[in-house]
Amino acid sequence: MSDTPKPYGVAAFFDRHAPGWDAAHGPQSDRAAYLRGLCAALGRPRVIDLGCGTGWQLIDLADHIASGVGLDISPAMVAQAQENTAALGDETNLAFHVGDSATASAEALGRFQLALFVGSLEHATDQAAALATAAGLLDGAGRLVVIMPHPCNPGVLRSRWFGPRYDVPLNHLTPRALAGMARGAGLRLEACAALPYGGRGRLLDRWPVMAGAYAARFALA
Ligand SMILES: C[S@@+](CC[C@H](N)C(=O)[O-])C[C@H]1O[C@@H](n2cnc3c(N)ncnc32)[C@H](O)[C@@H]1O
Repeated sequence: MSDTPKPYGVAAFFDRHAPGWDAAHGPQSDRAAYLRGLCAALGRPRVIDLGCGTGWQLIDLADHIASGVGLDISPAMVAQAQENTAALGDETNLAFHVGDSATASAEALGRFQLALFVGSLEHATDQAAALATAAGLLDGAGRLVVIMPHPCNPGVLRSRWFGPRYDVPLNHLTPRALAGMARGAGLRLEACAALPYGGRGRLLDRWPVMAGAYAARFALA
């Protein structure tokens, strides 16, 4: 058996999570509020969501952006995103595609004022290459936002130490490690904000950064 995670392992893993995803990660979250504020500040950007899951991020942002493209390697996640988008009516500024964000290109998709990795960069087989690919999708003034649980988050530690083993990459980075990796991809860290993770219920999940998640915002260097 190979140690290298296979792309179909990632898709199959998240296919299993698709039916219950929205219940656990809805638009009431702090990260959704953060992204709405960011889109308002950027002035209705064109957005790409890399690893879009069931599409809620873009659906929640639809009124705040010019248009949105969601890309996900899991066909079941994309099917759920398309079903969720249908509720917006026939006229929508959103499109969802099955695809590997590692191979996303500006030639095929155009350029964006905002690219997002929300809970998805940690699953990339080659995170440095994924960051470089995302940088290549930005227009000159574009921003990349990475939202990721901190590696010291209790839920992350629990699944790392006690969770079942899947054939899926799971590599959470500290903000400092992410900023260093992004620098190599031609991206400059502009700001880093703490976000609660896992809902508002448990005290530990509300601690900023170390026990929660963070949003790191990058511009082209
Ligand atoms: C933890 S989920 C986050 C989904 C969504 N961003 C959210 O916050 O609700 C990670 C998503 O990344 C997707 N993913 C993982 N590797 C990918 C890749 N190489 N290309 C595109 N999507 C990928 C998975 O299929 C999954 O839907």
